[in-house]
Amino acid sequence: MIYLKTNEEIELLRENHLLVSETLAEVGRHIRPGVTTKELDRVAEEFIRSHGAVPAFLGYQGYPASLCVSVNEHVVHGIPSDKVVLKEGDIVSVDCGTFMKGFVGDSAYTFAVGEVGEEVRQLLEVTKEALCKGAAQAKAGNRVGDISAAVQEYAEKFGYGVVRELEGHGIGRKMHEAPGVPNFGARGRGPLLKEGMVICIEPMINMGTRAVVFESDGWTVRTRDRKPSAHFEFGVAVRKDGADVLTDFSIIEKAIKH
Ligand code: MF3
Ligand code: CO
Repeated sequence: MIYLKTNEEIELLRENHLLVSETLAEVGRHIRPGVTTKELDRVAEEFIRSHGAVPAFLGYQGYPASLCVSVNEHVVHGIPSDKVVLKEGDIVSVDCGTFMKGFVGDSAYTFAVGEVGEEVRQLLEVTKEALCKGAAQAKAGNRVGDISAAVQEYAEKFGYGVVRELEGHGIGRKMHEAPGVPNFGARGRGPLLKEGMVICIEPMINMGTRAVVFESDGWTVRTRDRKPSAHFEFGVAVRKDGADVLTDFSIIEKAIKH
């Protein structure tokens, strides 16, 4: 069942996605060599609660933290730890969710820690651009497959591996609603996109093979070849004239500019 949202509901979803954007910006301000991923989780939880919301990930299917923090070869769902210390040249994918006023927000951004190599810099840029290429298809009358194909085609042009085991999703009163939004697929296939649908698009793009391994902590997903992976996610409302992006990456990018 795909729920279509009213304009009022879309504004509540936007409030959540903007709070997630602000939280990721606050986390970004704390990202530097020497910080632990656990410290980033504390920053996020405190920030979310001080804005009258609840961390949507905490306790979700037993998940133990407010953020997923995935470093280098970790694709998604890295559990914050006081033993994981960021160092210069790392990349760190931070995924964050909020719950407030009956709705959820869910977005992710991959940060560079200090100066990173040119190859890794390109992986970040291409993954973010793949997300935007997908979002450009989030228009009433198109199909989910138009989004999926746009993401896949763009990322594969660079020789990157597109992770297939995890996908984007509808979002609303629940974090995961129908439809699933894969990052690979065929144009013209899949559920029809309608005005008022709200979905999260979230490409996970690997520098090397697309193959992933699910680690024994029950959560962390890593690349099989241990090459780096990037993850960007935002929420979009489907409109007749195109996508209304609910997350604001410019808030994050202003915060980390120096
Ligand atoms: N953005 C992730 C997703 O869409 C967040 C879920 S992870 C969990 O699946 F920690 F909440 F489980
Ligand atoms: Co998501």
